[in-house]
Amino acid sequence: MLSSICRHAISSARPQVRAIHKSSSSLSGHVFVHRDTDKNNPDIKFEFTAENQKRVEAIMANYPEGHKQAAVIPLLDLAQRQYGWTPISVMHTVADILKMPRMRVYEVATFYTMFNREPVGKYFVQICTTTPCMLGGVGSDVILDAIKENLGVKVGETTSDGMFTLSEVECLGACVNAPMIQINDNYYEDLTVDDTHRILNELKAGKIPKPGPQSGQEWRFASEPKTGLTSLTEEPKGPGFGVRSDL
Ligand code: FES
Repeated sequence: MLSSICRHAISSARPQVRAIHKSSSSLSGHVFVHRDTDKNNPDIKFEFTAENQKRVEAIMANYPEGHKQAAVIPLLDLAQRQYGWTPISVMHTVADILKMPRMRVYEVATFYTMFNREPVGKYFVQICTTTPCMLGGVGSDVILDAIKENLGVKVGETTSDGMFTLSEVECLGACVNAPMIQINDNYYEDLTVDDTHRILNELKAGKIPKPGPQSGQEWRFASEPKTGLTSLTEEPKGPGFGVRSDL
């Protein structure tokens, strides 16, 4: 039970800018438990294509006997790439292949936000709004507004033509090149409002914009400093460098 001092401290604390209970997922209208629907029920069968079946076997070969269930994430990912999203039938097929309880697959598919349990558009736009992206460059809030304006949708919605779905996500690991968005498998970094409109407009026109930093500083592809490398500027000297020969 909280003491009166603790209660006072909590009630007088400054409010957070975005409280956890107001995170984008909590504000979404999605149901976070499975309910059978016409497009998502166990009677809709899913099978890997012959080509992907070979990939399944290659993935599973990476894991020793007795540990094949560790392939659950790559198999769910492969299935999602084939089907477009991850309905319950996909989870059941993966569970059957890996001979694991369906509940174990549900646990993985519902924990990782990379698995979309609702259909998404042809282009799945994920904007990172975690602190470095919120503070970096023009800031992710401004980029998010530009995306909403360009696509005419809010976070969690898909455009009426089924082309774009907008999602707000936590750190995507490209913080140094903030702000950034991920569209399908491509990262677009060092964004400005103009870049954001250009990228979306190119996609609408059927082109694939060049991924990576949009600042013209292609060397920042792996988050290098804007001014160029400040370390690791020489060829590596090899593993024997610096070892005393008399030892
Ligand atoms: S905070 Fe946005 S990529 Fe890390």
